[in-house]
Amino acid sequence: MIDIVKTSPYLDQKMGTAGLRKKTSIAMQKNYFENFMQSIFNTIPELSKKSFLVGGDGRYYNAIAIQKIIKIAAANGVKKLYVGKDGLVSTPASSHILLKNHLDGSFVLSASHNPGGIDGDFGIKYANASGGQCQPSESAAIFEQTKTITEYKIVDCPDFDLSEIGTFKCNQTEIEVIDPYVDYIQLMQSIFDFNSIKKLLTSGFRFVFDAMNGVTGPYAKKIFEEILGAPKGTVLNGKPLEDFGGLHPDPNLIYAKSLVDLMYSDKAPDFAAANDGDGDRNMILGKQFFVCPSDCLAILTNNYKLIPAYKNGIFGVAKSAATSLAVKHVAEALKIGYYEVPTGWKYFIHLMDTNRITFCGEESFGTGASYIREKDGIWATLFWLSIIAKTHKSIKEIAVTHWQQYGRNYYLRNDYEAIPQDIADKLMADLEQKLPALTGKTLKGYTISKAHPLIYNDPVDNTSTKNGLIIHFTNGSRIVYRLSGTGTIGATLRVYIERYVTDKLLEDPQTMLKDLEEVSRIIADIPARTNKEKPDIIT
Ligand code: G1P
Ligand code: ZN
Repeated sequence: MIDIVKTSPYLDQKMGTAGLRKKTSIAMQKNYFENFMQSIFNTIPELSKKSFLVGGDGRYYNAIAIQKIIKIAAANGVKKLYVGKDGLVSTPASSHILLKNHLDGSFVLSASHNPGGIDGDFGIKYANASGGQCQPSESAAIFEQTKTITEYKIVDCPDFDLSEIGTFKCNQTEIEVIDPYVDYIQLMQSIFDFNSIKKLLTSGFRFVFDAMNGVTGPYAKKIFEEILGAPKGTVLNGKPLEDFGGLHPDPNLIYAKSLVDLMYSDKAPDFAAANDGDGDRNMILGKQFFVCPSDCLAILTNNYKLIPAYKNGIFGVAKSAATSLAVKHVAEALKIGYYEVPTGWKYFIHLMDTNRITFCGEESFGTGASYIREKDGIWATLFWLSIIAKTHKSIKEIAVTHWQQYGRNYYLRNDYEAIPQDIADKLMADLEQKLPALTGKTLKGYTISKAHPLIYNDPVDNTSTKNGLIIHFTNGSRIVYRLSGTGTIGATLRVYIERYVTDKLLEDPQTMLKDLEEVSRIIADIPARTNKEKPDIIT
């Protein structure tokens, strides 16, 4: 039986750069999730011909939300839903399953790298048939629906068992519970030389993978331990938990602390990787060595020939404006296409769809390639393992060799969190106003060569997007300012700072960037406006 439930709008359901992300307690309000799902379905024509994938990273409220999706989809006459067994699917695997089966979209229940649990965050990533996040026009249409919604449809029936592979019906809708791992694993086997990685991992080479109690645990155990022969116990925090075991599942130097401590101790294995809650972000570490994500993109791109799927050539590479220029040096040397885009994976998708790029990445621990339309932490890990297997170099040697060839872009991101929205907006607006007047100014020895907003003209849909303010210095250094699109409390000001050098390759980034960080605060008048002398988080 279909219930038509009367409801009233929640006015905060605007999607950010990665879907809708909210405090769990907000998402759990009466009708909140239902309203949002109905709003999505209201924007999609001919639902009786449409099939979608549903799954998530295992966080709190996913199990309830997945049941709601099934019942709302069925009440709206959706043709078919594929649901990951136990409600699980990683973001990269979801993109592959969607593309492989020519589905019309997917709903991945995840707040990505944000903490989970009743006091944590909940989120929905909605991807369309492209295999990646929906277009701004689609999210705008959904937002419009959320503002006027008066009712939603839901099938009144008991919950379904999602713990076994199989097919059943809810009203006219077919529900297929699928293995969320098998297709993705085959995909990885088609890209990388598993034999050479297996040789490395069974030769005494010591590797650990930290799944941070997110969704990549089962993927990683199957790939690294079962197929590639790494010893049992290689995968740490390998069981998806509703609250990530209290971890903040963001693979960076702050939140993956126990892994970082291990890698800086005298018990450090040769190589470590960590993934975030839904498996699209990655952090790469060597013995007493951290690979900055911007360098990661540059180094992978520089080594593309070592990977079977890419050895015949790659189209080009793209990075978000906030990411350092390290990969630009590589693209110029390799004479491949190079693009700088606003933050948000959707910009990369257009470049992939038109064969302009093969690789792309962001400073926020995201790297990926055109075999899917999302970033992919396990892919990045397998890529690094391949480089090690073929070059027999340590992570540090690989990075240092790279810097010797191209120079080093020291890089840090400063986040100023929970700033009142109006103050953050005014800070950005005032800074933008004064950009033209900054050219030629010298602060702490850094001379500004030009300053401008990033304006990106999308080559596919001919739209122009403004995202971030960029200050260039005469010595190749840069500062980029932008407001986060994924925060859940107030506004987060992100300031991205990079300094380019061709000598002094092995210094501490904090020391190398101290003056430039100070310069970034002076230019935007951050302490006076935000009451913060220092950033809340430095990554
Ligand atoms: C953050 C990252 C951005 C990434 C997004 C989704 O967005 O900075 O690179 O694409 O998460 O993972 P932000 O909060 O900066 O808008
Ligand atoms: Zn993520």
